[in-house]
Amino acid sequence: MLKDALPEIITQQLPGPKAAAIIGRRAAAIPDAIKCVYPLVIERGAGAMVEDVDGNHFVDWVGGVGVLNIGYSHPEVVAAVKAQADKYFHGMFNIVTHEGYVELAETMNAMVPVRGDKKMTFFANSGAEANENAVKIAKAFTKRPNIIVFSGAFHGRTMLTMTMTAKKAYAHGLGPFPDGIYRAQFPYLYRKPAGIKSADAIDYYTESLERVFEEASPAEHVAAIVVEPLQGEGGFIPAPLEWIQAVRKICDQKGILLIADEVQTGFCRTGRMFATEYWQEVGAAPDIITTAKSIAAGLPLSAISARAEIIEAVRGGTIGGTYCGNPVACAAALKVIEIMKRDRLDLRALEISAIIFDRFNSWQDQYLEIGDVRGIGAMVGIEFVKDRISKEPYPELVSAIVDEAVKTGLIIESAGIYGNVIRFLAPLVISDAQLDAGLDIFEKALKKCV
Ligand SMILES: Cc1ncc(COP(=O)(O)O)c(C=O)c1O
Repeated sequence: MLKDALPEIITQQLPGPKAAAIIGRRAAAIPDAIKCVYPLVIERGAGAMVEDVDGNHFVDWVGGVGVLNIGYSHPEVVAAVKAQADKYFHGMFNIVTHEGYVELAETMNAMVPVRGDKKMTFFANSGAEANENAVKIAKAFTKRPNIIVFSGAFHGRTMLTMTMTAKKAYAHGLGPFPDGIYRAQFPYLYRKPAGIKSADAIDYYTESLERVFEEASPAEHVAAIVVEPLQGEGGFIPAPLEWIQAVRKICDQKGILLIADEVQTGFCRTGRMFATEYWQEVGAAPDIITTAKSIAAGLPLSAISARAEIIEAVRGGTIGGTYCGNPVACAAALKVIEIMKRDRLDLRALEISAIIFDRFNSWQDQYLEIGDVRGIGAMVGIEFVKDRISKEPYPELVSAIVDEAVKTGLIIESAGIYGNVIRFLAPLVISDAQLDAGLDIFEKALKKCV
């Protein structure tokens, strides 16, 4: 069974002949801007494994970029989707109430670690849409116009979220952009400025945030501060809890809402159902949480959750959309969450974490090119540098490792503002044997490319 298979490349080269033909058609029919560097075309997926159209088997450490925590084609999710599709697969929620939407909102309300007793959730289709909606409700509730985001942030590709996103390569030539978005420095501790001692780093980054109030937007004009618990696209950089506590305090003092973008960190990835559970444990729960990606195992769905008084502040008609909370996607999400809780994928993430940190740290001891290994739970990045003192990023090495690994059956992806981080986002249903096989392929690729 593919679910239990190990990586194996059976074609002489990659892409194999069938994949090459489809990739050729892709190049002719689809804009280059929707880029793909991988020489495979999927035939089917199961668990953490992908079979391509030529019969090659790959172990996948990308998981649709954090979408497949539950793995490809989980049989129980497939059954739930089929059962829903047999009944109906659309019912515009503003016109026809469907129970799946209601039940999923109830399920989310019972789980999300946002502040408040009475919580509410509504749904959208993508991570970017969820973030747009979170900003809308924060503005409506606070009646303030501005938002603070961070260096390295990635919040999506719509006009607003592209503006919130730090890396301007994502927005090249597409301005002008919406106003009222201000940026502070994210605590990228590995790259803290020279001269700032570790013990002073949190204060340094907290002051950077407070400077925004002096230099860009008075605090009383700020509706929300938006934080990823662990920056994904930005380079797998965890937000230190001490800093989150400081941000929470600033929000409380200034009447600002704290929004957690859990689009990539949610659904057991970090060893908890939500990474913000760690925030809650230190008394710094957010006011609004956005989730997407792994919520519905690949069907388009995202959620915006907050305490009722915040979410109820928006006027009728200002949120929602034709496909938001699609019945098939809701059915998938309900099953995903049921399985995650039953099979304790949060604990599995911690087991995986221990295995990969062990290997990654041992490589860091051997290879000077590995500058940093960091993450939370099973969301881990390895940052490559040309020199450990200058910390000059080494994106060429990362590209070479990605190319080499895929040739022997491991799909990995880069991340980071410099493209010099390799990320681990494998489905949490990966077996130990598949995990080891991937680690062995990675190690060989690393040895070959340095
Ligand atoms: C933290 C974060 N927020 C938002 C998004 C955007 O999600 P989507 O691509 O579903 O719009 C992403 C996507 O990678 C993300 O990682």
